[in-house]
Amino acid sequence: MASCSPLLLLAVLLAVSSSPSLVPVAAQYPGDWLTHITVYMHETVSGRHATMLRSVQSPLGGNSMFGTVNVLDNELRDGPDRWASNLVGRFQGLFVGSGVVSPPGLMTSMNVVFTAGKYNGSTLALLGPVLDFEAPVERSLVGGTGRFRMARGYSVMTSVRNYTTPDSVVLVDKIDLYAKIRYQEITLTPPEKFTRESLFDE
Ligand SMILES: *[C@@H]1O[C@H](CO)[C@@H](O)[C@H](O)[C@H]1NC(C)=O
Ligand SMILES: *[C@@H]1O[C@H](CO)[C@@H](O)[C@H](O)[C@H]1NC(C)=O
Repeated sequence: MASCSPLLLLAVLLAVSSSPSLVPVAAQYPGDWLTHITVYMHETVSGRHATMLRSVQSPLGGNSMFGTVNVLDNELRDGPDRWASNLVGRFQGLFVGSGVVSPPGLMTSMNVVFTAGKYNGSTLALLGPVLDFEAPVERSLVGGTGRFRMARGYSVMTSVRNYTTPDSVVLVDKIDLYAKIRYQEITLTPPEKFTRESLFDE
């Protein structure tokens, strides 16, 4: 990097910042691709078209969060504006009130399911806590299917705006997904040479 001219660096930075969503931006490790994908989650919190609901109340009653179970099936779009963006997938999963002492944590388990674009049919699995309701939420990206087989990395979710529809508030969060994909050239047919392992000693 020391020999890199400032102009070249600027060109690289500009290319990265203007690259559209859903495009791998850098290969950083031999044999690995580091992919940065940005999607926008649109969550309708109430009303007839709610995409998130509390399915189990806390047995402790009152306002207790500990033991609650919530499920969601939110829209994923390629932009923050509902009327000027494309649907690219769903953000499906659950979050559980799992903090009995302060900080009142949530445990979240989410799948990013692509339903359009170059990753249509592929999914990413995210796992992680919410420790602070005001801060960006970081999750481990623990794996994937389809074009994301063998993926690993992390995601950062940040609230960007809220808007209202006639029967609900909709929360919009930007989700940056950073994934190392070991075989970018992955074909969807498994390699021919797998060693079949015995599940018992022979
Ligand atoms: C996504 O893939 C499914 C299954 O192959 C296909 O039916 C559907 O039309 C695709 N959607 C888009 C938007 O390309
Ligand atoms: C959107 O609403 C949520 C929940 O009320 C709030 O936590 C968040 O800060 C709001 N985001 C913005 C960008 O105003």
